[in-house]
Amino acid sequence: MVGAEGGLDRAGAGDGAVRAAPPMWSSRLAFILAAVGSAVGLGNIWKFPYMAGTGGGSAFVLVYLGCVLLVGVPVLMSELMLGRMARKGPITAMASLGRRFGGTPAWGLVGVVGVVAAVLILSFYSVVAGWALAYVPKLASGTFAGADAARSAEAFGALLADPAGLFLWHSAFLLATVLIVMRGVRSGIEVAVTWLMPLLFLMLLVLVGYAAVAGDFARAAGYLFTPDFSKVTPELVIAAAGQAFFSLSLGLGAMLAYGAYLPEDVSIPRTAVVIAGADTLCALTAGLAIFPIVFAHDLDPAEGPGLVFVTLPVAFGGMPFGSLFGTVFFVLIVVAALTSSVALLEPAVAALDDRTRLGRVRLTVGLGAFAWLFGLLTVFSFNIWSDVQPLGDGRTLFDLIDWITANLMIPLGATLIAVFAGWVLGREAGRLELGLPPGAVHGLWLALVRYVAPLAILVIAWRKIVG
Ligand code: PHE
Repeated sequence: MVGAEGGLDRAGAGDGAVRAAPPMWSSRLAFILAAVGSAVGLGNIWKFPYMAGTGGGSAFVLVYLGCVLLVGVPVLMSELMLGRMARKGPITAMASLGRRFGGTPAWGLVGVVGVVAAVLILSFYSVVAGWALAYVPKLASGTFAGADAARSAEAFGALLADPAGLFLWHSAFLLATVLIVMRGVRSGIEVAVTWLMPLLFLMLLVLVGYAAVAGDFARAAGYLFTPDFSKVTPELVIAAAGQAFFSLSLGLGAMLAYGAYLPEDVSIPRTAVVIAGADTLCALTAGLAIFPIVFAHDLDPAEGPGLVFVTLPVAFGGMPFGSLFGTVFFVLIVVAALTSSVALLEPAVAALDDRTRLGRVRLTVGLGAFAWLFGLLTVFSFNIWSDVQPLGDGRTLFDLIDWITANLMIPLGATLIAVFAGWVLGREAGRLELGLPPGAVHGLWLALVRYVAPLAILVIAWRKIVG
């Protein structure tokens, strides 16, 4: 890794000598837990099930799997690889690699876009996670016992209509995120994920077991996995690809930042496959926990974003031990969201830590405070500012922030990362960092990042913006 160290020296010109060695994950397992923690979040447990539901079940699931394999895994490998080569926060990392391989530090802009997008996403991610947090005491106290769909919708509506309440839950969630990131990579993020990820897997399994006993498991499995290509439309492909990026935490510099702490002897291709596999498994498992309950109660699988917050509580309210398992379900969402929100804040903190002397604690608090206050736009989008509709037809400020980050910033970041890894970085430099022998696997990766990923992402972004 002589080459990468050369890059480090140049990147850290001047203060490289005084700066302590960059922090490092203590083991491969610790890194995998953190990366899977970043990937598995609201995207898996809230968004994937409702998107699969609105996308006709198996059609969406199959296209999604294709997107993960063909575009997700190669871009994930690229992000981890570039992060480890530079061992810096996303902005300095891309600037120094750009200078070294592309002749210009302007590549640092990729890091800037990613970091800004990550903090904007954090601002609304935390509000939605706050809804889940608010549901924990609701479920635990049996609010939904015997509730019908109308009462459940009313309860969700009442939550959204109360700005002070939303702000409070959002504040609590963001505070937890800040407290973890503040403590740093090893004693903050690593400790948190080592406890939270096993807890998350355990809760997920308990819920699938519960759904298998109390719900209509066979119908759910058939719905999610029986191939039906007749429902595949261009819109569905676009939605599935966007969801794959978001779910794998790509295009925002999050995996660049986590890759920067990755030990030298860890195989990136193998790790990327493990991360993508675990993320996909969690999404599918979440589907297998939710749809059996939906079908057993004759609820609508195509309900949309309300699936988890409106539909499921009705089911839990009418099931044996429903309050208990409903509580576990919403705790699960909060835990999954927390290990992801940490990964949204970390890249920005790491990026500014390279470039200022403020230190991690102040940076974390400052950036957290920004996301906290910016989150007010999302909070108010559901009540006092619901009439502010910059995109027209009912779409609020929250939709605007979601739209800009998901449709512009993530695709842009992901494309540029694929282009950099495929075209700008030398063929050999990439191959060596990935630890691949010359041959078919390396050739396949190269073809995917050079042609398939950029083209696919651009077509998708174009259709979303124009369509
Ligand atoms: N992957 C997370 C999810 O599915 C969201 C996320 C994106 C987290 C980017 C970190 C960085 O919920």
